[in-house]
Amino acid sequence: MVGTRIRFWYFILVSFVVWIFLLAIYFSGHDGDVVISKPINSDEKFAAEIPNTSGMEETEHRGEIPKLYPANATIDNFFIGGEWDKYLQQVVLPKTESVDPNPKIDQVVVEKHPELEIPLDPGDSCSGKYIYVHDLPTHFNSDILKHCRSLSKWMDMCPFISNMGLGPQLQSSDKVVSNEGWYETNQFVVEVLFHNRMKQYKCLTNDSSKAAAVFVPYYGGLDVVRYLWDSKRMMRDHYSMALIQWIREKPEWKRMWGRDHFMVAGRISWDFRRLTEKDDHWGNKLMVLPESKNMTMLTIESSPWNENDFAIPYPTDFHPSSDAQVFEWQHRMRKIRRRTLFSFAGAPRPNLKNSIRSEIIQQCKSARRKCQLLGCHPSSKKCDDPSNLLKMFQSSIFCLQPPGDSYTRRSTFDSILAGCIPVFFHPGSAYVQYLWHFPKDFTKYSVFIPGDEVKEGKANITRILSRISRRRVVAMREQVVRLIPGIVYADPRSSLETLEDAFDITVDGVLERIDGIRKEMIQGKNLTVSEEEEESNWKKTMFGTIGPHPWDHFFIREREWNPQ
Ligand SMILES: *[C@@H]1O[C@H](CO)[C@@H](O)[C@H](O)[C@H]1NC(C)=O
Ligand SMILES: *[C@@H]1O[C@H](CO)[C@@H](O)[C@H](O)[C@H]1NC(C)=O
Ligand SMILES: *[C@@H]1O[C@H](CO)[C@@H](O)[C@H](O)[C@H]1NC(C)=O
Ligand SMILES: *[C@@H]1O[C@H](CO)[C@@H](O)[C@H](O)[C@H]1NC(C)=O
Ligand SMILES: *[C@@H]1O[C@H](CO)[C@@H](O)[C@H](O)[C@H]1NC(C)=O
Ligand SMILES: *[C@@H]1O[C@H](CO)[C@@H](O)[C@H](O)[C@H]1NC(C)=O
Repeated sequence: MVGTRIRFWYFILVSFVVWIFLLAIYFSGHDGDVVISKPINSDEKFAAEIPNTSGMEETEHRGEIPKLYPANATIDNFFIGGEWDKYLQQVVLPKTESVDPNPKIDQVVVEKHPELEIPLDPGDSCSGKYIYVHDLPTHFNSDILKHCRSLSKWMDMCPFISNMGLGPQLQSSDKVVSNEGWYETNQFVVEVLFHNRMKQYKCLTNDSSKAAAVFVPYYGGLDVVRYLWDSKRMMRDHYSMALIQWIREKPEWKRMWGRDHFMVAGRISWDFRRLTEKDDHWGNKLMVLPESKNMTMLTIESSPWNENDFAIPYPTDFHPSSDAQVFEWQHRMRKIRRRTLFSFAGAPRPNLKNSIRSEIIQQCKSARRKCQLLGCHPSSKKCDDPSNLLKMFQSSIFCLQPPGDSYTRRSTFDSILAGCIPVFFHPGSAYVQYLWHFPKDFTKYSVFIPGDEVKEGKANITRILSRISRRRVVAMREQVVRLIPGIVYADPRSSLETLEDAFDITVDGVLERIDGIRKEMIQGKNLTVSEEEEESNWKKTMFGTIGPHPWDHFFIREREWNPQ
């Protein structure tokens, strides 16, 4: 008993001595590299003992301990870990801030720009909606139209720019279209239609200080198409570079560094996103120039990986000049009898290895009477006649819209116009594209069948479509018919009374976006997004997140777009 007690006290004594010894070492400071030997509120003391960190990039270290040690280094001290780390942090952080000669980051971020505020007048219905249109030299727009014969090697584009870009009037013997408002419209003329609609916009201003947005009426698509297949390929960049030079010099540019500017190009984004100087690479550089990145760029197919790129509908053949024409058409499309389950118009793409076109055509053929096929081969003219196409879509419940050379197709809009429910195989064909024009909930107006399942023979289109209940079909079709006014471009020589067409919806979208940007600039926010964030733009805009998503495999990026 006594022996145990003595051993106990002996243990206590030894422990005490050891503690005293360790504390002595700690306060003497002779064994540590970074030993803080005095109360931690003495600044000068630390200045002498803490390594010079002023050469470190402050931006890289915000909120973390400057790397005096590698994270795994052992510090020869019994206070290792836990509290000690906190200690170091408290000690070192104030130090780095005081050493840094100009803590520039925070200052730049909060530099406010109240001068960007545009005057708002509650009594003026155009207040906050004024648009200033740049008066561009004519070689950027109207001259291109004057030389319409040189626009395409394969066809005469001149008829298509007649009627302010609507094209020749469409006469149909078999009543596929209504009497008024139908034209043979080319799919690449949106920039002309848009410009002509803009001339009628009710809130134009010549006073750019009042303008909520600045429109740049450059015909970028018609410009580049002259040189896309040409041997003189470097000409592709000529006018787009000259245009950027021109707008950058204007006082309007300097106000918001172009962030209130917008432009429409009636071709797919990939025609303007050449990333290299290589002569044989596709497209020009219009949309990759630093100035363009500050503008809102509208195209008929946007890049899912770029945040300033917005898709607007392809033009269809219907250009109503009154609400009544739209209502009448919607009424017809609701009542029409549809005898075919689904249909497809298009050609196979044997050169594209991921194309599902052949599988689609095969499935259509094997569905026999349930599917109508309109083969669009270069030799056959069937597809060029808009009434063939519309007739087929009007008699079908579903219309298949697989990607072609790129994700999107004009056919999507033709099918909506015909009241035919679109079936998509890639989310890039519509859902992440026409965010202003289509409902976010894509199940309400379309069917999604993942293209990879079709490719692998796992998806039987006939079976999937025939299992959709009648009630759901009716509800989806009603939603499709309601989309019609918003996807057509009204006749630019008149305007709809109450309905908003594709142009109106686009202008609303642009004004809202620029308004948000202006507010952020007034607050002094940094508008440059990181590359990683921009890559995920399709998710951010559609779902508000940038984390992993089941659709990720659809958006593995091909940086250069090269059609075969
Ligand atoms: C700290 O380092 C920077 C650059 O590395 C140098 O300019 C500065 O004179 C140094 N300060 C002291 C106190 O050594
Ligand atoms: C600490 O980690 C680095 C890299 O992770 C390694 O090279 C180094 O040897 C490690 N040091 C110690 C002391 O473990
Ligand atoms: C802007 O100025 C032009 C040329 O002076 C004029 O033709 C046009 O009507 C003006 N527009 C507006 C909205 O004031
Ligand atoms: C783009 O905008 C930013 C401000 O947000 C500005 O600093 C930058 O200079 C602009 N780029 C060009 C090319 O004007
Ligand atoms: C697809 O489903 C339909 C109806 O269920 C069936 O008749 C057809 O044989 C199927 N096709 C394939 C390729 O399995
Ligand atoms: C703005 O943010 C970008 C990306 O996050 C960054 O690279 C850039 O340095 C920031 N600019 C400023 C002035 O803070």
